Amino acid sequence: MLQSFRHADFNELAGLWSSYFPPRYRVDADLLRLNTVECPVFDWGASLIHAPDGPAHGFVVVKKPAAGTLYPGKVSDDAYLTAIAYTEPQTAVDMLAEVKSILRNRGVRKLHFGQDAWHFFPGVPTDFAALKNLLEVEGFTEGSEAYDMERDLTDYENKFTMPEGYKARSLEMGDLDKIKEFMLEEFPGRWPYDLEEKIKREGYPHCVIGLFRGDQVVGFARVQKWDDKVAMAGGVWKMDLGDNWGSLGPIGISAALRGKGLGQALLGAALMHLKEKGVKQCLIDWTILDKFYGEHGFEIARRYKSMNLDLESLPAGKQSRKDVGLT
Ligand SMILES: CC(C)(COP(=O)(O)OP(=O)(O)OC[C@H]1O[C@@H](n2cnc3c(N)ncnc32)[C@H](O)[C@@H]1OP(=O)(O)O)[C@@H](O)C(=O)NCCC(=O)NCCS
Repeated sequence: MLQSFRHADFNELAGLWSSYFPPRYRVDADLLRLNTVECPVFDWGASLIHAPDGPAHGFVVVKKPAAGTLYPGKVSDDAYLTAIAYTEPQTAVDMLAEVKSILRNRGVRKLHFGQDAWHFFPGVPTDFAALKNLLEVEGFTEGSEAYDMERDLTDYENKFTMPEGYKARSLEMGDLDKIKEFMLEEFPGRWPYDLEEKIKREGYPHCVIGLFRGDQVVGFARVQKWDDKVAMAGGVWKMDLGDNWGSLGPIGISAALRGKGLGQALLGAALMHLKEKGVKQCLIDWTILDKFYGEHGFEIARRYKSMNLDLESLPAGKQSRKDVGLT
């Protein structure tokens, strides 16, 4: 029987997640709750739990687009498959048949795996064939690659010097208006929203290292560590990173000032800040800039492929297991 998330037992769902995903993608019940039902674009109508006779055998989490709702942007007919976990492939096929039917009836055209607001995955992890195979037989097609990069900061040394006239420092409450204005001007869309959300949840903007020219903000780097109130973005893999984990990203420099060494200098300063606070394993998530981060000793740790399903191209009505090649 398919049920909604209204009475979800997140300890049970986290257990199911752990038995499905490889250990490096483990999450706890609190994070699962935060990035699903507590997210403002969680789709209560399309997210389902498969619990035929008591304990859950599977669940699927769907979110609505955030652009146009949480932050300004073009409203799309897309939906996001945040995550899926199951014990038997039939359960996955049954759940996805229901999800596709619900979304198609609503006029949704595209279903993306991951990349949602308050995401776990920037795409399908390439080291988890079961999920990739399932999505392929369900009609999803593969797109571009992105990765997470990691290094232990214990012995990190910053080899980049800050160009004269610039300074990197943690933000203070008095900087809030400045950072907001800078983000909306330079990086309109998701990043200002994510940054504001993180600051709101922490209650203080110490999770942002600002790059200043005099009083003016000209760059930013978002940082997180193990004792933050919430783990977002790269922090979702905190269980794999271990004690004293940290994460960095996104990072950005004013468009007019790029290519002059400020990005590397800000990154170096932000990593030194994390190291001095005691961070060990540090993750930079959802990137394609391996050379930029590689200069600081970061190595690719997880690879993801975007996968998308064109719902309009599917035959009408629900698909059966046979239709998708699973018996
Ligand atoms: C990425 C970014 C922070 C780098 O800052 P910067 O001041 O331009 O970088 P620096 O001058 O210190 O260093 C330049 C190096 O950055 C890397 N780099 C910067 N932008 C890059 C891009 N779009 N693609 C590939 N490499 C890039 C290159 O390694 C480059 O070295 P090279 O000149 O030898 O090729 C800046 O370009 C930016 O804000 N970009 C838009 C936001 C973004 O993409 N952030 C990263 C999210 S993962």
